[in-house]
Amino acid sequence: MKVSISHACLWATVASAASTPTKAKRANKARAASLPTVTVRGNAFFAGDNRFYIKGLDYQPGGSSAAIDPIANAEGCMRDVEKFKELGINTIRVYTVDNSPDVDHDPCMNALADAGIYLALDVNTPLYSLNRNEPAGSYNDAYLQNVFATVSKFAGYSNTLLFFSGNEVINADNNTNNAPYIKATTRDIKSYLAQQDLRRIPVGYSAADVSSNRYDTATYMNCGTDDQRSDFFAFNDYSWCDPSSYTVSGWDQKVATYSNYSIPLFLSEFGCITNTRAFGEIPSLYSANMTPVYSGGLVYEYSEEGNGYGLVNIRGNSVQETADFRALREAYANLEMPTGDGGYKQDLPKSQCPSASSTWEVHDFEGDDLPAIPDKAVQYLDDGAGDGAGLNGPGSQWDVAGASDSTASAGSGSGGGASGGGSSSGGDNGSDDGGSGNAAGALRTPVGLLVGALIVGVGMVVGGGL
Ligand SMILES: *[C@@H]1O[C@H](CO)[C@@H](O)[C@H](O)[C@H]1NC(C)=O
Ligand SMILES: *[C@@H]1O[C@H](CO)[C@@H](O)[C@H](O)[C@H]1NC(C)=O
Ligand SMILES: *[C@@H]1O[C@H](CO)[C@@H](O)[C@H](O)[C@H]1NC(C)=O
Repeated sequence: MKVSISHACLWATVASAASTPTKAKRANKARAASLPTVTVRGNAFFAGDNRFYIKGLDYQPGGSSAAIDPIANAEGCMRDVEKFKELGINTIRVYTVDNSPDVDHDPCMNALADAGIYLALDVNTPLYSLNRNEPAGSYNDAYLQNVFATVSKFAGYSNTLLFFSGNEVINADNNTNNAPYIKATTRDIKSYLAQQDLRRIPVGYSAADVSSNRYDTATYMNCGTDDQRSDFFAFNDYSWCDPSSYTVSGWDQKVATYSNYSIPLFLSEFGCITNTRAFGEIPSLYSANMTPVYSGGLVYEYSEEGNGYGLVNIRGNSVQETADFRALREAYANLEMPTGDGGYKQDLPKSQCPSASSTWEVHDFEGDDLPAIPDKAVQYLDDGAGDGAGLNGPGSQWDVAGASDSTASAGSGSGGGASGGGSSSGGDNGSDDGGSGNAAGALRTPVGLLVGALIVGVGMVVGGGL
């Protein structure tokens, strides 16, 4: 629900990244109070040796399309951390951050770590993201430079839980053709972490609540070689509307559908507001019914932004709790978190790539082929991304000159699996050549130069069942 941040708006000019690469390692200076880093084992997350369930909130005061970095605001962050502690959460998701070099995230990241809270971070911004109407042209070097700059800025914090490579880019069957570009971005982030010798923070996609293409999206992100497969998959799910139940909501069927899904699965947004919220889904989400397949989820959302989903109203420096906040606090207070390993599975097979169909319109790339990393972006893998453009840069969505122009066979990336347990074995060789890709296919049709448009993409899509 919620506005898709990925393409909220875009610029009228052909953008170009001004930054020059510099050594990325300096980004590692950031040090939050230490939490055990989270890794992937089989279809679960682990913090150290303990199974880790995401129990948290989506956090973007100002709204997702406003392009405000909420964790650059130390005061606002400290204020809200007190509320997070009241709820007893362990994760927040932030949709947009400012990656410019002068922005300091240490105070907030430290305050979060002190409170035992991890960050699930979207690496895109309204200006630097794939444009779902022009995925080929918007998968370009300026885009990746900014994505990598954000990754560098956050990779040094022990409480960075995961990176979302994309959010709701696909919001209808007729834009499932974006999938290869999203997956290529995931591959490139994994290559960047590996080549820059950064912590192998899990990388994956957050899917819109669209039932018709959800399963194909999930299997597509988890097929192919380890360097290109996601480390987890998340989707938004508003299908449990209180009063409901495990079976009435259809969540039992989703558990069955994903029972053999080999990587961690969680809800990146949930919390239907059709009726009064009692958060009846919370005891279900963390019950033995679901923990073999799911790893928790994130309630949408902390602050009220005009759509009725907020748990608090922020007025200046004061925060007023709503009835929903109290209901959620009670649901969490009564929740018995699962113990032991929750029945996770270690050795499930990766997925098969889905075939094209009327709901899966992926025709430009076959099977596990993907767009090659754009030529001009290869340097960032070796040399570091350099400075991010922040929230006011020229944007990347129309920088077609820097776009990818070839196809890469599976295995072109240099990142393997995310875990501490390591999983880049398994016969899936990432090449070590800088991720330049095995340019194997014909040159892709150049995209026309598209200038002067302003597109407002609204991703309010809700799906029902599976
Ligand atoms: C894509 O599908 C949506 C409905 O899912 C429809 O509203 C939209 O007009 C379609 N777009 C195109 C370009 O066909
Ligand atoms: C999961 O795998 C088991 C064992 O291979 C199989 O019997 C079952 O049908 C599979 N379930 C799904 C939903 O694919
Ligand atoms: C991995 O790469 C090495 C060296 O290029 C090669 O000898 C080996 O056969 C590859 N393994 C697989 C499973 O492709």
